[in-house]
Amino acid sequence: MTKKVYIGMSADLVHPGHMNIIKTASKLGDVIVGLLTDKAIASYKRLPYMTYEQRKEVIENIKGVVEVIPQETLDYRPNLELLKPDIVVHGDDWKNGVQSKTRQQVIDTLAKWGGELVEPSYTDGISSTQINNSLKEIGTTPDIRRSRLKRLIDAKEIVRVMESHNALSGLIVENIKGDNGLEYDAMWSSSLTDSTSKGKPDIEAVDVSSRITTINEIFEVTTKPMIYDADTGGIAEHFAFTVRTLERTGVSAVIIEDKTGLKKNSLFGNDVAQKQDNIENFCLKIQTGKKAQITDDFMIIARVESLILEAGMDDAITRAKAYVKAGADGIMIHSRKTEADEILEFCKIFREYDKYTPIVVVPTSYNQITAKELSQAGINVVIYANHMLRAAYPGMMNVAKAILDNDRSMEVEKDLLSIKKILELIPGTK
Ligand code: SPV
Ligand code: MG
Repeated sequence: MTKKVYIGMSADLVHPGHMNIIKTASKLGDVIVGLLTDKAIASYKRLPYMTYEQRKEVIENIKGVVEVIPQETLDYRPNLELLKPDIVVHGDDWKNGVQSKTRQQVIDTLAKWGGELVEPSYTDGISSTQINNSLKEIGTTPDIRRSRLKRLIDAKEIVRVMESHNALSGLIVENIKGDNGLEYDAMWSSSLTDSTSKGKPDIEAVDVSSRITTINEIFEVTTKPMIYDADTGGIAEHFAFTVRTLERTGVSAVIIEDKTGLKKNSLFGNDVAQKQDNIENFCLKIQTGKKAQITDDFMIIARVESLILEAGMDDAITRAKAYVKAGADGIMIHSRKTEADEILEFCKIFREYDKYTPIVVVPTSYNQITAKELSQAGINVVIYANHMLRAAYPGMMNVAKAILDNDRSMEVEKDLLSIKKILELIPGTK
């Protein structure tokens, strides 16, 4: 009888190494590929470039592949128990390192029915990691970048977003990795940090085209998606144009807040000029934006300011429900309390009513809570809204002052980015 052969793979960027594995497997029997889902891949590395459906189409057309089924976790065991294959084929590169535990689980599971693990030697000279790095150098297109936020929200427990107000801070967000392996998933174009970096107040006075110029500069050197802070969005007719401009540029989502009149930043305390829009008006603005967008993947996220303006939890919930009904693709709930209590309460009430609409938060003032804890409360996106700019300013101030204090720059050299690092950071500088 023909043997059943199982291969688990991501197959985002198919290279000769994959072909070698499939060829080896097809000589042994009928090949079933367990194709890792976006969720399974995003649990340990970057979201794949191609969607599950695109990757499936490639793999099922490769000679020797009989069937492609989803592998929902990094762990092979559920699919192995289901299929009871005679053989599993995997490159021998997983003997050491993080995957060695998965390998042992595969061996132990196969042993239950006398199955066997076959490990062809790893193909040298090419790897997905290398291809990924080359792709980063090539960059991305507005369409691909735009569509990534929705996919990230679907695939990740929580999407981590960092503010980026110029290309240099964008590069940091693109490349930085935590010791725990975490990366930022996306960038935030903040009205507060954009205006602050221009030395101006955050009062909706900056024109969209100047913001777009900055975003284009950021996009020239990065590949991650961006969420745009559009303040109130202005009047509905103007908002429709903003939506089109952002979409065309490759921005993934816009957030508009339900305020009216002279907008001021939410973190700076209450003011009589700060009024909340009436629900009908704001719903109409959401609808106008949704009608204006051309692609399916652009998101319009409604920001509820009820807790900021002390209008109460009931008002926040009523508005969130109404905005979702009007077509909002997500709700941002904001608070400037120093504890997360009211945000968590909002999420609990909202999630009882609506399980899926993404919730976005900006924990600037309630900064003790971790992203993991926020995700456990049903939150999908966390934005660190101003931290790159706030980090840059004290650094510049201290150095500017110290040079005066010492009447030379020798003392501050140790605190500065070295010229050598600039060469490493910016390709093509040499
Ligand atoms: C911004 O970053 O400009 C925001 C978020 O709108 S907040 O400053 O918290 O209001
Ligand atoms: Mg803002």
